[in-house]
Amino acid sequence: MKKVFKFISVILSVLFALQAFIVPGFAFDSMSLTEEQWQSRYDSLIESNTLPLLCVGADETQLNITWHTDKNAAYPEVKLSKKSDMSDAVTFKGEAVESENDYQLVCRVTMTGIEENTTYFYQYHSGNGWSKAAKYESKSFDSYKMMVVGDVQIGGQSTDNPDEQSRIGYVWQSLLDEALTKNPDISFLLSPGDNTSTGKSADEWQTFMMPTYAQSLPMALAIGNHDKKGMAYNYYTNMPNEYYGEYFEGLDRDFWFRYGDVLYLVFDATSGSAADHRAMAEEAVNANPDAKWRIAAMHQALYGAGYSMLDSETGILLNGVFQPIFDMYDIDLVLTGHSHLQGRSKFIKNGLVVGAAKSGKTYTNPEGIIYLNSNACCDTSKTWGMPHCAYTFKDGDTTTYTTIEFDGDSMAVKTFRGDNSELLDSITIVKTKENTVDDFLLPLKKIPYAIVEFLGLAYMRIDAVVVKIRGGHF
Ligand SMILES: [Fe+2]
Repeated sequence: MKKVFKFISVILSVLFALQAFIVPGFAFDSMSLTEEQWQSRYDSLIESNTLPLLCVGADETQLNITWHTDKNAAYPEVKLSKKSDMSDAVTFKGEAVESENDYQLVCRVTMTGIEENTTYFYQYHSGNGWSKAAKYESKSFDSYKMMVVGDVQIGGQSTDNPDEQSRIGYVWQSLLDEALTKNPDISFLLSPGDNTSTGKSADEWQTFMMPTYAQSLPMALAIGNHDKKGMAYNYYTNMPNEYYGEYFEGLDRDFWFRYGDVLYLVFDATSGSAADHRAMAEEAVNANPDAKWRIAAMHQALYGAGYSMLDSETGILLNGVFQPIFDMYDIDLVLTGHSHLQGRSKFIKNGLVVGAAKSGKTYTNPEGIIYLNSNACCDTSKTWGMPHCAYTFKDGDTTTYTTIEFDGDSMAVKTFRGDNSELLDSITIVKTKENTVDDFLLPLKKIPYAIVEFLGLAYMRIDAVVVKIRGGHF
């Protein structure tokens, strides 16, 4: 019998060894949880306020991380190793800055020198010494897949409601579980904002970071109107190349990063400071003239499904601020959220539909921009198509996620149901020409845009008074 066990164990060892070659993209250990297991995790972690957020770095060779720790034991240090026992670890030091409370500091560290297709383990220095080692697997830098999930909005529409926080946390956990189990080759997650409900609550951010997937999945998180209700985003995120502009105030900031051949420009659309948004786009594009693709993200649903474009703030004001920037800087794809309605536009140029962008089709060097609007985790609602929509998801009771895959000259955008990964919509763009900014036309376009910049500034000033009177952002 012993020989049989030995034989089986040898066979299993060989199979496990082979698996590493057969499934090279497998990166996320299964972290599925039942609702009861989630609730138990939630109850055990919600009071700690020390969970880390792994963020994208300035490029694919960097990772940012941030966490809260006791003021008397704040060491902003992270160890990174290729071995699970943390031998030969490299230590990275960052900064410890004030938090929103008087008993903790916020640690912010950047890890550099990340190599592609490599397994890493990292530990951060918590108040109780080094944390348990968490695994991070980098993927290929040239050809890769990232994912988009919007309006996680932990807390939903409520204020200080632990039941609602936990419920939405489980929707978030389950969506990550479904998406990452089916797409283990995801490099990072980008959200067009509304990460939390009140923008003021530590508990909401703890719940956001609670799925164990979050410790292995770098995130790029835009600011949404709910985040803008307070300053918590400032203390719980560590985004790269944060741009504070000339006129931005309070929480306002844009940021950008480079991953492979793609430049990501993430705008804080809750600020009407057109001058700062345009300046950030110019800075990012000038620093990355060789990036083949340019993807923008902002919160409000420009060219989304349903009512979003009928909303005067989104349809007129924000469209007036952002759409010229997207056209001036030759953006390929814009990711939005806010309306909680999954949909994708046709090709849009200067506010007009210039191409059908049909689902399931491949387009080579198309004119115009695609606007993709994401669903939500906190709640979903039924929707309808608009003339500018190429795809509208009408099953309002189901979450969704989108993957964007870059391979050679192509970018494939696919949206799936969040409960069973059924493919809902896809479009592939092939680009065989350079991504450019027209050096002749750009200065000419900046002249009329100066009026938008002035009006944006005036709007900012008026909006600040309105927000003060009504006691916060909607
Ligand atoms: Fe929103």
